[in-house]
Amino acid sequence: MISAKIGIVTVSDRASRGEYEDLGGPAIANYLDEVLTSPWTPESRIISDDQNLIETTLRELCDYNHCCLVVTTGGTGPALRDVTPEATEAVSEKMMHGFGELMRKVSLEKVATAILSRQTAGIRGNSLIVNLPGKPKAISECLDAVFPAIPYCIDLIEGPRLTTNESRFIAFRPKGA
Ligand code: MTE
Repeated sequence: MISAKIGIVTVSDRASRGEYEDLGGPAIANYLDEVLTSPWTPESRIISDDQNLIETTLRELCDYNHCCLVVTTGGTGPALRDVTPEATEAVSEKMMHGFGELMRKVSLEKVATAILSRQTAGIRGNSLIVNLPGKPKAISECLDAVFPAIPYCIDLIEGPRLTTNESRFIAFRPKGA
């Protein structure tokens, strides 16, 4: 069975300068270890909030590293340096608006500031890119909401077949898929 490559991109000026420890990237990797039962390999990056750099990193992870899924954390808010959704949109051929809508809906039940996240998702070739906010606790809050849809979405873009730990949640796949 081939190991699915998954990109994990921490977008943060301060984490990229080593001013603080990257907590988001490892939290995403732990989450994936917990939910995926099919083999996967991380491709992790820590980069600054620079739109060109984010776009280049996303293109490389999708086109060169062949990641079926790329999860970003950080840079989704309204601050001047927050440009992760713009970079995601610039490299995507299709936007998957339902991901951002659902993540904001569940996040708003936990924190009022969820309205400030412009997180989105998009498809580039055979890759799904999903934005998460920078707060480490937002990672499981958001991924619990959308992860059930991710394996089937990756089937539809002709990526590897991801399977999940069914005691954690049941991934949505229509009968026969
Ligand atoms: N969503 C969840 N689930 N949990 C959170 O703690 N933090 C919010 C929001 N979304 C948060 C959340 C805050 S405080 C901000 S400013 C925005 O995400 C944008 O965060 P970012 O710029 O780090 O991506």
